[in-house]
Amino acid sequence: MTIAVSTLAPIGENRPGAEWWRSAVIYQVYPRSFADANGDGMGDLAGVTAHLDDLVSLGVDAIWLSPFYPSPQNDAGYDVADYCDVDPRFGTLADFDRMLYAAHDRGIRVVVDLVPNHSSSEHEWFQAALAAGPGSPERARYLFRDGKGEHGELPPNNWVSVFGGPGWTRVPEADGTPGQWYLHLFDVTQPDFDWTNPEVHEFFKNVLRFWLDRGVDGFRVDVAHGLAKDGELPDTIISDDPSMGGGEHVAPYWGQEPVHDIYREWNAVLREYDGDRALCAEAWLPTVDETALWVRSDEMHQAFNFPYLTTKWDADDLREVISESLRAYPAVGAPATWVLSNHDVIRHATRLALTADTPRDGGIGPRTEARPIPGLGQRRARAATTLMLALPGSAYLYQGEELGLPEAVDLTDDVRQDPTWFRTNGEKYGRDGCRVPLPWTADAPAFGFNDTGASWLPQPDEWARFARDAQEDDPASTLWLYRTLLANRRQYGLGAGSIEWLSGYPSDVIAVRNGDVTVVVNLGSEPVVLPAGTLVVASEPLAGGALPADTAVWLLAG
Ligand code: NOJ
Repeated sequence: MTIAVSTLAPIGENRPGAEWWRSAVIYQVYPRSFADANGDGMGDLAGVTAHLDDLVSLGVDAIWLSPFYPSPQNDAGYDVADYCDVDPRFGTLADFDRMLYAAHDRGIRVVVDLVPNHSSSEHEWFQAALAAGPGSPERARYLFRDGKGEHGELPPNNWVSVFGGPGWTRVPEADGTPGQWYLHLFDVTQPDFDWTNPEVHEFFKNVLRFWLDRGVDGFRVDVAHGLAKDGELPDTIISDDPSMGGGEHVAPYWGQEPVHDIYREWNAVLREYDGDRALCAEAWLPTVDETALWVRSDEMHQAFNFPYLTTKWDADDLREVISESLRAYPAVGAPATWVLSNHDVIRHATRLALTADTPRDGGIGPRTEARPIPGLGQRRARAATTLMLALPGSAYLYQGEELGLPEAVDLTDDVRQDPTWFRTNGEKYGRDGCRVPLPWTADAPAFGFNDTGASWLPQPDEWARFARDAQEDDPASTLWLYRTLLANRRQYGLGAGSIEWLSGYPSDVIAVRNGDVTVVVNLGSEPVVLPAGTLVVASEPLAGGALPADTAVWLLAG
């Protein structure tokens, strides 16, 4: 069956300055865990198509799909073996086309994930590199190097894998003797490309065109800060000098200048196409100002605002990161973006109220000191989202947050799948807890994730109460809150607005006006008196007209 390529009729005018991605709410679909049409326990593209109407009723503008490409799934699909196909576990290219057509038909744009820092070791290029041997053009597509030491028995430098353990692995040569080393900043099955090689540039431009020709609206670019390495491959410095990051690794592979030329090239590829296609950088950089370098006018269009995601539930800190974001991104012509959860971090309904600090990527499990404080995280999460969706720019939601889903904190060791868990020998639980399949129906096998009850990660029993059908008709539910926020964000044009800080509130209260809407968020412990006005939405019931702790409200001027 042939499906016509579909491109979406423009939302709004799409003139410069008003492109869809400047104000869109983009919902992250994690295909493994969204909906499973064939019942094998892993979600699929047909499952996404089947639930598009639920996303329309939620009120999002676009979806971003995490990888669905052929992959051995050693890093949940971020180990790509073929960039221009669909893994049979997720369906076929025809399923993709059907999903894209159905999404566009409903006014929903589709962003796909691009993984250009590394491929899977099962990619034909890497297999050819192993077979071809040192000095070959095949090896020159990756970062193969001779080792140090008398017999090359030491790795070329001290770089480590983000998932734990060394960043280099030695391969046997054709005669069986120990040979060269290759770099993998992530899992051993994720060899890094050599982006000084023009062939790699050509390859990825063609990958972009493959998906643009099919009609996608953009790309989320994985590890966008990591593609270019310092060509000398110097050791990572671990410094206590605060000016060098204070105890942090000063890594000669994050944020290297030549990476920006790659995005200038890609920006030009996107401009070959109509309809405002967009690139979004996944770049974990410490400050908003550094992140803004990825969205200069001839580079990417958006970058995830991870400094915002990592900000604690603290009024001063939030005021600062919001001000910084609304200064730094527009200064280079880009929208600010906002995000609170994704498939790599502890869900914000849990993260915002823990009994102890915990590293971002460490996860939570039965033996971690950090445990959720019952109820408080969810309350704060609802308030945090109520603030986020009032801010101008583009906002990202992670599947399941509209249900108030917490992190699954009691997964047992035997079900864990994240390479972080294996490469740190269980020292870090990793990210499985935010990746558990969604509950759709309280009273059904696998809570309606599929018909068979199979689930690649077990769903906690208590998730019946988070199931979508249990919230559908409950105005007090998180689902209703999200729908109400998204409908009003659209109605009052908040995504394209601008904010004014309001004074006269206690220091632990955030108060801003965006157009007609006044937003007040109480991060303190005492109730706050609200100004006169008509209530649009509140994250919790108000107490006699006052705003309780850990609650946010939108009001129209009275
Ligand atoms: C970032 C992705 O979001 C994460 O899930 C993945 O493990 C790494 N990049 C490596 O691709």
